[in-house]
Amino acid sequence: MSAARIVAQQILERPNSTLALPTGETPKGMYAFLVRFYQEGLLDFSQVTVFNLDEFLAIPPDHPQGFRAYMQEHLWSKVNLNAENIHIPSSTPEDPWEECSRYEALIEEAGGIDLAVLGIGANGHIAFNEPGTPFESLTHVAVLSPDTRKNEASRFGGIDGTPERAITMGIKTIMRARRILLLASGEEKAEILAKAIFGPVTPEIPASVLQLHPSLTVVVDEGAARRLL
Ligand code: PGA
Repeated sequence: MSAARIVAQQILERPNSTLALPTGETPKGMYAFLVRFYQEGLLDFSQVTVFNLDEFLAIPPDHPQGFRAYMQEHLWSKVNLNAENIHIPSSTPEDPWEECSRYEALIEEAGGIDLAVLGIGANGHIAFNEPGTPFESLTHVAVLSPDTRKNEASRFGGIDGTPERAITMGIKTIMRARRILLLASGEEKAEILAKAIFGPVTPEIPASVLQLHPSLTVVVDEGAARRLL
């Protein structure tokens, strides 16, 4: 609810806001509340522009475990977003690096991101910026770490069927957002979240870069907050 309220405030203050949006387990509740706010007539998405943080490479565009399908299910099909204002990297581009440049340019053309909503991976990744990704990175082709692939494997029927690469907004792309909302839920995120927030700023923990952002809000549940106290 808190996360949805922050996104809603952004849209109410600036109806033509540009948002960067995450997938995963954590943001499902936020999307459910945003849909509810829309259904209750409190929110209008008609002028909002959305960019997904990332998408797997080399899966069919309609793959049920792809982020396009996730966003369709949780947000896009349920609110009055304009189709032309919905953006996600292609999972089957002819030239993945060209797709990255196209995506980065689209974000710039939209005037940059007003609010980027992020999850945090158990290894500290934000979007698919895995440990070791340079802070200067723009949208790029990411090789998924063994940990990340292991975490995804059950959704893809085993490690062999799990994508190896993805297109992701880079750390610099994310840090250019005017405001950042980081979400973390579950005890399994408690330790990495504490390191990211209070530990050294290092590419080994990509989320730690967020300490340098001038407008960061962190929304956590009780489990993820356990090591912050
Ligand atoms: P989760 O994913 O919300 O499914 O834990 C977060 C992430 O890996 O970025």
